[in-house]
Amino acid sequence: MANVSLKNVTKVFDNKVIAVRCLSLEIRDREFFVLVGPSGCGKSTILRLIAGLDEPTEGDIYIDDILVNDLSPRDRDVAMVFQNYALYPHMKVYDNLSFSLRLRRHPKSLIDNKVKEAAGILGIEGLLPRKPSELSGGESQRVAVGRAIVRAPKVFLFDEPLSNLDAKLRVQMRAEIQKLHRELGTTMIYVTHDQIEAMTMGERIVVLNEGEVQQIDTPLNLYYSPANVFVAGFIGNPPMNFIRGSITSDNGYVFVSNNTKIPLSSDFDEQLAEYRAKEVVLGVRPEDIYGEGTERGLSSSQLLSKDPIEVTVDFLELMGNESLIYTKTEGTPLIMRAPADVSCERGQTINVYLDLAKLHWFDGITGKRIEKQ
Ligand SMILES: Nc1ncnc2c1ncn2[C@@H]1O[C@H](COP(=O)(O)OP(=O)(O)O)[C@@H](O)[C@H]1O
Ligand SMILES: [Mg+2]
Repeated sequence: MANVSLKNVTKVFDNKVIAVRCLSLEIRDREFFVLVGPSGCGKSTILRLIAGLDEPTEGDIYIDDILVNDLSPRDRDVAMVFQNYALYPHMKVYDNLSFSLRLRRHPKSLIDNKVKEAAGILGIEGLLPRKPSELSGGESQRVAVGRAIVRAPKVFLFDEPLSNLDAKLRVQMRAEIQKLHRELGTTMIYVTHDQIEAMTMGERIVVLNEGEVQQIDTPLNLYYSPANVFVAGFIGNPPMNFIRGSITSDNGYVFVSNNTKIPLSSDFDEQLAEYRAKEVVLGVRPEDIYGEGTERGLSSSQLLSKDPIEVTVDFLELMGNESLIYTKTEGTPLIMRAPADVSCERGQTINVYLDLAKLHWFDGITGKRIEKQ
């Protein structure tokens, strides 16, 4: 069991590719911590730095409050599970599981106990005599996790371990890994590019882009209070809609974007005071847009924008339980959630209204969230 901390860690490859930039993270003992971000944002590099497979160009890494910069991977007491499983193809599952313990010259009976215990936890006792070529994707994945479990590491590192599985198995394995976390009570650091996987698994999540931290927070805080336009657009599916415009005052504040005008209630006066006549980005999630002919239950406390935004329906996705309406207004795409039995059609023009209490505001230049005062 251990906490992991990175202090101002930078990794530069070949003197030019900055994979990780001045990264500081404090991962708590027993935490399930997720690193999420688009491909190439530095996730694998961060795991490899923690595991000791790569050296930081600058900065310090601590495991269990011990500086590990100069410790070899095997002395760091961490175990990594890779996306491609990296099983030894010529060895039976039993030998794949026992390999690291044999290297460390543990007694045979102890090795046998540990292998059987790990196999028991994962329900793969029946696979022990098989070769990796005789396993399905899901089974290989379990064996790869089993190989980490037998080592009883202080920290588990998972690098996109579910990416090669089909959708159904992925959901099942998510639950299994979380159960494993509860049972073992070990710190787990989990990398994924999939925001849904991050949201459903992480106790806390760091969102990364181009090697830099965008926000470190709980899943719901990321969703409801994204720190910038990047996080707002990355977390949530379908993504948040953005409309670029400016704030003018005309008998109260008004958001203006081309011909669209959204008069704002006085609730926004303080929040937007500094942004009068400046560029802002208005963010609104698909579930916070309400359209004529697509009414969903509105509670009496909800305050919708008074003036409609006129949008043209591009296409519809009817999913059975709900529908997604893809629209455009003056060239800006707006996606909205609607009931299953939505009545609008392609090419139709409809009026939509925004839930004023749910609007997100971002600085038009820096992209940073404009906080409520
Ligand atoms: N060994 C390496 N040599 C040079 N560049 C690398 C190396 N490993 C990773 N990179 C670069 O560092 C960046 C981050 O890569 P990576 O950590 O693999 O991203 P992710 O896992 O988030 O997809 C990418 O631009 C990648 O091309
Ligand atoms: Mg990667």
